[in-house]
Formats: sequence, structure tokens, C-alpha cells
Amino acid sequence: MRKRIVAGNWKMNTDVATGVKLASDLMQLLKVQPAPENVGVAIAPPFTHLSEVSKVIDPSKICLASQNCASEAKGAYTGEVSVEMLKSVDVMAVIIGHSERRAYYKEDYATLAKKVDLTIQGGLRPIFCCGEVLEERNAGIQNKIVEAQLKESLFHLSNEDFSKVIIAYEPVWAIGTGVVASPEQAQEIHKFIRSLVAARYGAQIADDLTILYGGSCKSSNAVEIFSKPDVDGGLIGGAALDAAEFHKIVQSF
Ligand code: PGA
Repeated sequence: MRKRIVAGNWKMNTDVATGVKLASDLMQLLKVQPAPENVGVAIAPPFTHLSEVSKVIDPSKICLASQNCASEAKGAYTGEVSVEMLKSVDVMAVIIGHSERRAYYKEDYATLAKKVDLTIQGGLRPIFCCGEVLEERNAGIQNKIVEAQLKESLFHLSNEDFSKVIIAYEPVWAIGTGVVASPEQAQEIHKFIRSLVAARYGAQIADDLTILYGGSCKSSNAVEIFSKPDVDGGLIGGAALDAAEFHKIVQSF
């Protein structure tokens, strides 16, 4: 049975002290009411918080993730943070290709493919984001866009390496906007993603793949979205900044 996951992407929010408190509060809530069986919980604080946050979470209850990584292994890349550095503070997964990175920092297919490779080589799991912008959805070309994103940055992987990947489908028009994709819209494109993976890697790998939905997901809509057969959880932005709200989303299966 494939793994369900709820991952919180804190983006550029909280300082170290409030981030540590948020992580501790979530740990407490998970001790009282653990995640349902087969549901993994992850949080992705800013880089500056990782080391301190790692000290207050139990990795068997919360997986520590980062929001990004460098596209090079080491060396003269001022301001970058490598996969090896992330490993040294117990990071286990890396969000790669978030639409904000694609749009504001011009991360292209090739750069993202390099980040995916380094993450997997380092023994970490990529949470690879894909999704279309509003104009593309309105033009009815969302499947084409997502297909290109997957083919250009993921489908060079071997079967074994691809098995480490988690995909997050995040329609850009739903991120931080309060507009959420309908459960049917999410299901339709998740199913399409799984079919692409099946065609490339075979039915078993496709069936085992965790595909998260992201974009204005909160406790009031998570149950319905997560009930869809090809939606295996969520990548949560704004609602991950409140421990009780995020914990409710974790319980939404
Ligand atoms: P949101 O962000 O939940 O605030 O819409 C989701 C994301 O960008 O991962």
C-alpha cells in the first residue's frame, strides 16, 4: 500500500524561535494523537531553522525536509546550501521545483534535474513539484505542462531512483490564493500523472508512487481532497504555520 504523506512547507515564515515552537507544538499534538496508520508527516522549515528544529522532533514521527537545495555538490556557489549540508542536520527530503522557485528564481528543467539527481545520490527523497499556471489551465493545456515538467526533470531516472520520488501536484493558481482545485480536478490530473509514470516505469512503480496535492489545502477541504483515489496527501503552505490546523490536516484520511 502506498504511503500517504502530509508535508508542511513553511516558506519564508517564522524566525528560529517561533519555528522551533511550531515544531515542538506539532510534536506534542502527534504524541497525543499520532498520525493515522500509513500516514507520514514532514515539515520543511527555512534553512536557518533546520538544525534547531531537528533537535525537538522525533524523526519517527516527523520527517525533516528542506525547501530547496543547491544544483551543485560543493564549492564556490555563494549563498547555496548543498545536499551534504542538509544531510548533516538530519534532513531526509527536499522540496524541488516549487512553482515559486521556478517563477521567481528562474529554475529551469535542467537545473531541477540536477537537484533531483544530487538529492537521490545523497540518499534523500525529492518532493518534486509540478503544476500549471492559470492561463495554461484556462487554455486546457495543464496535462501537457505537467507532462513536460515530469519528462524533462524526472524521467531520466532509473527505476530504482524513481522509486524514491514523491510528486506534489500544485496548480499555481491555487497556491496561496484561497482558491482550491476541486477534488475532481485534483483526481483527474493525479490520475494522469500516475498514468504517465506507469507508461515510463511500469504499473507497480506507478501504483507505489505518492502524489500529493498542494494549493490552499486546509482542514476544511482536506478530507474531501484526500478521499480521491489518486490523491495521497498534501503539500501544505499557509495552513502548516498553525500546529493545530496542520495536525487536523494530518488526521484527514
Ligand atoms: P498554500 O501553499 O497551501 O499556502 O496554498 C501550498 C504550497 O505552495 O506548497
